[in-house]
Amino acid sequence: MISNLPKHVGIIMDGNGRWANMRGLPRIEGHKRGAERTRDIINASLDIGIEVLTLYAFSIENWERPEDEVSVLMDLLYSYLSEEIIDMLKEGIKFRMIGDRERLPSHIQKLIEEAERITAGGDRMTLVTALSYGAKDEILRTVRKIIKMGIPEEEIDEAVFESLLDTHGLPPVDLIIRTSGEKRLSNFLLWQGAYAELYFTDTLWPDFTREEFISAIQDYQRRERRFGRVLTDSRFYK
Ligand code: FPP
Repeated sequence: MISNLPKHVGIIMDGNGRWANMRGLPRIEGHKRGAERTRDIINASLDIGIEVLTLYAFSIENWERPEDEVSVLMDLLYSYLSEEIIDMLKEGIKFRMIGDRERLPSHIQKLIEEAERITAGGDRMTLVTALSYGAKDEILRTVRKIIKMGIPEEEIDEAVFESLLDTHGLPPVDLIIRTSGEKRLSNFLLWQGAYAELYFTDTLWPDFTREEFISAIQDYQRRERRFGRVLTDSRFYK
């Protein structure tokens, strides 16, 4: 399990609504069950030794959902995060949020800032929550920052651009997992995932187990990553 581990895993946790519908339950029950899965997968990531785990919890497009679902999701995120802060601290997890935080309700913004401040020393794993996140929005916000900062055209390169993305300082995402049978990226880490390996499963997020997570990692470990090159260098045969 140890060799060729992905440093950074991103997960598009999809299928909560369908999981609930199939059982005649309100969609929120699917989200609650999904939040429980999230806990298991965070623990599994810690055990495996993943350095960065990014969870797509609420996309910028999700603001278009019915108001009551949005508010219930916000409440769920608030209670989840407030319950987890102390455990994250104990486990050595550094919490970070990516996305347009200004669109979030102010009590959630405050809680996020607190979680980021309290867990800043965490050195076992970084848990990134993508909230009010859209990759195209992140890229546009970065372009605006560059213009505002007056960075000269000839100084703009990938390193400068990356240093201004929400994910600054994090490694590129190696593996993106999407549950629920949909095979698309839905505006998730488009820059950072330029060379990501993709793993799609029909399992709905509330049914996604630690065992399936481990098999997704093992599937990644068997893949040959060439980054557009030809494999002539022994470093790539590890
Ligand atoms: C996608 O399912 C899931 C979401 C929009 C929300 C994800 C939220 C959680 C897993 C719970 C809370 C997370 C954290 C980090 C506390 P969907 O509603 O799009 O499902 P559907 O496609 O079947 O309708």
